[in-house]
Amino acid sequence: MRMVVLGLGYLGATHAACMAELGHEVLGIEVIPDKRAQLAAGEVPFYEPGLPELLKKHIDSGALKVSGSYTDAADFADVFFIAVGTPQKKGEYSADLQYVESAIEELVPLLTRDALILGKSTVPVGTAQKLSERVDELAKDVDVQIAWNPEFLREGFAVADTLHPDRVVLGAFPGSCAEEVCRDIYGSIISSGTPFIVTDPPTAELVKTSANAFLATKISFINAIAEVCDAAGADVRAIADAIGYDARIGRRFLNAGLGFGGGCLPKDIRAFMARAGELGAAEALSFLREVDNVNMRRRTRMVELTREVCGGSLLGKRIAILGAAFKPKSDDVRDSPALNVAGQIQLQGASVAVYDPKAMDNSRKLFPTLDYAVSAHEACDKADVVLVLTEWEEFVSLNPSDLEPFVRQRNIIDGRNCLDASSWKSAGWRYCA
Ligand code: UGA
Repeated sequence: MRMVVLGLGYLGATHAACMAELGHEVLGIEVIPDKRAQLAAGEVPFYEPGLPELLKKHIDSGALKVSGSYTDAADFADVFFIAVGTPQKKGEYSADLQYVESAIEELVPLLTRDALILGKSTVPVGTAQKLSERVDELAKDVDVQIAWNPEFLREGFAVADTLHPDRVVLGAFPGSCAEEVCRDIYGSIISSGTPFIVTDPPTAELVKTSANAFLATKISFINAIAEVCDAAGADVRAIADAIGYDARIGRRFLNAGLGFGGGCLPKDIRAFMARAGELGAAEALSFLREVDNVNMRRRTRMVELTREVCGGSLLGKRIAILGAAFKPKSDDVRDSPALNVAGQIQLQGASVAVYDPKAMDNSRKLFPTLDYAVSAHEACDKADVVLVLTEWEEFVSLNPSDLEPFVRQRNIIDGRNCLDASSWKSAGWRYCA
């Protein structure tokens, strides 16, 4: 099938390459010229394991093409995916829908044949309805339908999550052709037994926001328990393991530590609260404010812990920050807990040296005033404390005795509960988590 993907960021580039992998002919639209040129040359402008190979394969074969023109898009196909960003509005909790809206405003007047627009971006409940009304105003003598087909991919596993999703969700208005089209598009995925849930657009929109809200809640739950463990002298990792054996609870997303960041969970729970407020259901989601609070408190707690380990003041101390990406296998530093902590520590008078295996360029752009090192060893040079803030395998496998010659003092804080505490302690380090 021929299809267009509007927006080639983390979501859109992955979706476009994966649709080509499923055997479709895909045109990806990217309006930022530099990004577009890179993608058209078969290069991925961000780090996502497995995606460069897939993108190059399908750019080379011609199954995936890239353009910046909405006229090309309207000519190319009758099925369009919206995969543009929906960031948090500046100074507000709600989602900024300007990119979704402008995709519709630009595309629909150009359509000369009946078309189906499938939204993949995470949007507040009610968005598909509003867009559908706007589409009816913009469409010229053609039938243009909107449906919502939310995406559940995780950065770092984006290709596998797209090609082998846990479920495919579709929210379609009555009488829509969307189910038939999606059964074609995702034919091989659905026939392999993946659940295909067909519902109405508000439900589909809410499936996505509820999933992210639940994941955020799970992380903050275990982090709240970690606060109690700190006070009581208990071991949160053992608690997560023990409660995780209960299939109703499950062990995944129960890793206590520095908490969640990135371009999705933080902004999605805030947009969810804002939308519930607009709908008169604010009270129902008031617990998400606490989920957010617990999460943000982790960052402050990490700064306090570092200060305590430094003897009460960060002034003049040298702090090594290992990890800048919001999670491993990603170069994404949007709302990165690690960089947030690095910034706070620097503001309290310490000098910080940051190292991340993949997120250095993005970190420099966001926090140009931090010091950056080219390796973990260089970051640890003369460090009073070493902080592990993203659980990259490179840091998990660090050998305490290799690091010892570099540091000024053998203090390590494990911000992700990912290190083998006993090996650090037995090598003479002060280990905190
Ligand atoms: C999240 C969801 O997991 C995806 O299903 C969803 O499609 C995506 O948002 C989206 O809305 O686009 P992602 O942002 O890639 O995916 O990252 P996650 O793997 O969910 O991790 C989010 C944050 O939680 C990271 O900072 C991670 O370090 C943290 N985390 C995760 C914990 O602190 N503890 C855990 O146990 C798990």
